[in-house]
Amino acid sequence: MDELILIPPTVMYADQIREYVEEFPSDRLQVTLDPDRIPGTDELENCATVGDWLRYVKDQEGKVSWYMAVRRSDGRIVGFSCLRHALKFDDDDPEFTSHAGYSVRPSEQRKGYGSEQLRLLLEKAREAGMVRVRVICRDSNVGSNMVIRANGGIFVDAIYGEESGMTLNRYDIPLPDLYGYRYLTLRDCPELKERAAEWFSSKWGVPREAYLECMSDYLDRKTELGWYLCMDGEKIVGGMGVIENDFHDRKDLTPNVCAVYTEEDYRKKGIAGRLLNMIVDDLWTRDISPLYLLTDHTGFYERYGWRFFCMAQGDGEEEMSRMYIHD
Ligand SMILES: CC(C)(COP(=O)(O)OP(=O)(O)OC[C@H]1O[C@@H](n2cnc3c(N)ncnc32)[C@H](O)[C@@H]1OP(=O)(O)O)[C@@H](O)C(=O)NCCC(=O)NCCS
Repeated sequence: MDELILIPPTVMYADQIREYVEEFPSDRLQVTLDPDRIPGTDELENCATVGDWLRYVKDQEGKVSWYMAVRRSDGRIVGFSCLRHALKFDDDDPEFTSHAGYSVRPSEQRKGYGSEQLRLLLEKAREAGMVRVRVICRDSNVGSNMVIRANGGIFVDAIYGEESGMTLNRYDIPLPDLYGYRYLTLRDCPELKERAAEWFSSKWGVPREAYLECMSDYLDRKTELGWYLCMDGEKIVGGMGVIENDFHDRKDLTPNVCAVYTEEDYRKKGIAGRLLNMIVDDLWTRDISPLYLLTDHTGFYERYGWRFFCMAQGDGEEEMSRMYIHD
């Protein structure tokens, strides 16, 4: 397989971009989410000219990045991909949302370019500071499922769309941050259950059995309220969970992020922020929003989009604590 480079679309490639679209007869796209659109080139088909599309691409700068996968040896576009920097877009259905879309032109498929293109796109995602990329594809899209798995995609679940009649496989691809730390859900690494329960218990003085019970329910899919870890190699260096009620009187404000902790040597590196954002995204794609959080901190959670909501009485506490919301 020849070397590919990802470059943002430019007017110099206008003729090739048109050719790329023409190479996709509609019946080639039967296994994609939207058979009328070529993944990775969103809105291109709705634009009258390539120039119009390039203006649209420019308008989306900072929110979405598009790339052409160009073969270095002959300058031919073999694929297109796009990366959304955040999962939440105004009109999106949370369950069906993803960070990435991609395609390889039919004449260049089955040569390894699809896997290589996604690998390069994930490098861009990592450079942009993303630690987890959600990708979805139809269960019947054999090539795309293989491309995602070849790039470390962890199967999250399969969901059925009533309206579309499609079954979609959802995957997450964890990416190391700039320090090399990995951000995982306990479902990504169920073998860590005992160690994680021990770790949380040592930080918060709550019996490990209490954590084990919540974690088992999560792993057995009795609840979607999960447990999230930051790992430096094999060491747990940060973590938090989500439970119905974090021991306070406002039972109506649920669910709650709890047990937020980063090892002292690892603080001020953005670990808790990344884990909080990961929780918000993960639960939003399961239609669980807003989230609440009880704390005595002021000024920390605001940095990650949380806002003060009200005061609440923690069980057995004399003073009231601050309740935050993320919606
Ligand atoms: C999905 C797509 C990007 C794959 O591109 P590609 O360049 O063929 O991918 P690769 O060559 O890297 O294939 C990766 C693996 O999947 C296999 N594969 C690819 N397409 C396949 C198919 N239709 N049936 C069976 N296996 C397939 C390849 O043989 C390869 O297997 P290997 O790793 O064992 O050698 C391409 O088929 C495409 O553009 N489809 C239309 C758009 C689309 O579906 N986009 C994804 C939307 S979620």
